[in-house]
Amino acid sequence: MRKGGKMKALARIFLGLVIFDAAVTVPTPEPINYDSEAYDATVEDLDTLYNYENIPIDQAETERVMLSGNRELLTPAPLPGENQEEDEDEESTPRLIDGSSPQEPEFTGLLGPHTNEDFPTCLLCTCIGTTVYCDDHELDTVPPLPKNTAYFYSRFNRIKKINKNDFASLNDLKRIDLTSNLISEIDEDAFRKLPHLRELVLRDNKIRQLPELPATLTFIDISNNRLGRKGIKQEAFKDMYDLHHLYLTDNNLDHIPLPLPESLRALHLQNNNILEMHEDTFCNVKNLTYIRKALEDIRLDGNPINLSKTPQAYMCLPRLPIGSLV
Ligand SMILES: *[C@@H]1O[C@H](CO)[C@@H](O)[C@H](O)[C@H]1NC(C)=O
Ligand SMILES: *[C@@H]1O[C@H](CO)[C@@H](O)[C@H](O)[C@H]1NC(C)=O
Repeated sequence: MRKGGKMKALARIFLGLVIFDAAVTVPTPEPINYDSEAYDATVEDLDTLYNYENIPIDQAETERVMLSGNRELLTPAPLPGENQEEDEDEESTPRLIDGSSPQEPEFTGLLGPHTNEDFPTCLLCTCIGTTVYCDDHELDTVPPLPKNTAYFYSRFNRIKKINKNDFASLNDLKRIDLTSNLISEIDEDAFRKLPHLRELVLRDNKIRQLPELPATLTFIDISNNRLGRKGIKQEAFKDMYDLHHLYLTDNNLDHIPLPLPESLRALHLQNNNILEMHEDTFCNVKNLTYIRKALEDIRLDGNPINLSKTPQAYMCLPRLPIGSLV
């Protein structure tokens, strides 16, 4: 029984390594769940492939920690069937925390900068290629990120504020996803200077005021926040020449933020407090040959607006907005 538990744990480590190899050779912006529980092969299968009895347990455990990105493993729980003495040996091994151990030179520098609690971000979170996954880690602040981070996911945490230094000089950042935190405040300079930021997802927070955003954005989702009447600056989206999705549902907005860039394909404004529309909100009343052909998806349902009052306002659109037409 004792041996079986240990062997099974080791089998998972090897599977984890195989999966890790596959994951780093094919970087992807999509979240990957490589929880070892999901790859529960039988020990017998692996017995024929690997002679894992030769691997010292502490080295294997170090690799398991690095692969899992799971904070709990920093103070390793006893592997099934192992006795307490072995566990104490492992806990006294500083290599578990320090990624620059001489036995693991290939991992040096992979673990990223140290967090406030003084362990590397890529042990706290999971880093694959240039993507950092920090979802669901009870974080109160944005952790310090490796310089080359391109995709940052920190959904389902408890972050309250975005500071101007949180993303400073992370010049490769392309996507930030902070869905479902407690963000109520964002420093004015938090995102402005990011030269390649394309996607910003801040849905399900408590944001009252949008800071200045970089003109490189293509996808913005600030749905389910508290922008209200004054949360969006005048002409906030005007210069975003590549913006194609703008999602602002559930914000108590009382107006449509104008002007909208020509590139825009989807504008979601459902469940706000928008009362009226002007004939030139989307179209150009002075030029009847003008067509806004990209904008195919406008949602205004859940607003106290009567779309029938402004039939001229949709002349240039490929489709009518969705909302109350009675
Ligand atoms: C009217 O709009 C069309 C299409 O966008 C454009 O080619 C034309 O120059 C515009 N005319 C005027 C008078 O602005
Ligand atoms: C919506 O506007 C149309 C056109 O002005 C009007 O006939 C209709 O009664 C309005 N509906 C409501 C519910 O106010």
